[in-house]
Amino acid sequence: KKTVAVIVAAGKGERAGGDVPKQFRTVAGRSLIGHCVDRFRAHPGIDDVVVAIAEGQENALARAVGPAPLPRSVIGGASRRESVANALCALETDGDVGAVLIHDAARPFLPETVIDDLLAGLGAYEGAIPALPVVDTLARGYDTLGETVSREGLWRVQTPQAFRCDAILSAHRAWPADREATDDAQMLRAMGGSVAIVKGDTMLEKLTHPADFALAEARFGGPSM
Ligand code: C5P
Repeated sequence: KKTVAVIVAAGKGERAGGDVPKQFRTVAGRSLIGHCVDRFRAHPGIDDVVVAIAEGQENALARAVGPAPLPRSVIGGASRRESVANALCALETDGDVGAVLIHDAARPFLPETVIDDLLAGLGAYEGAIPALPVVDTLARGYDTLGETVSREGLWRVQTPQAFRCDAILSAHRAWPADREATDDAQMLRAMGGSVAIVKGDTMLEKLTHPADFALAEARFGGPSM
């Protein structure tokens, strides 16, 4: 059965500012979505790439990915969760997909080793996610400091997140329609699925705010890229 990468790129990216949604913006000479597509295609363990985009963004996707061949696209939903669900339903119809890697287009610098580790992690678990240990002190509070929270055993969870396709589909179907989810692994956990943690990478930080783009350009846009 196939292993397919699903890239979610149907968000508005409003927190990032700018005239176009952030997934179509350029960093290090390529659009964010273009970087993601290239990196999945370059990995021998990935058979196909599907991108979830907002309605009417087909031309923007073609411009952002070109001159590389256009990947298959599906129309996303009002939330990240719905965008993923739409892509998973399309893959279920295909009938030949064994594993999926679900990835945010807003994380363009995807190391090959992370994909290797995720695919290896899937061997024994229903899911595998890249995560980094929390290094800062964590605290509650509003204007003034409240309680400091132990960071022991806490992780910053990234994407891509790898799953057996049937398991993550069931998890999406079981999840309450009115409840939001910031990633997919929490849905699999909610129905008791097993999820391995593999080593994340600072290269995978999500580009969210305007300053993230300037920093990423400084880090990855130099002549060495
Ligand atoms: O907004 P945020 O950075 O959390 O979005 C994470 C990813 O989910 C982005 O790549 C964004 O394009 C995608 N997304 C989506 N459909 C939505 C909302 C977000 O595909 N309705």
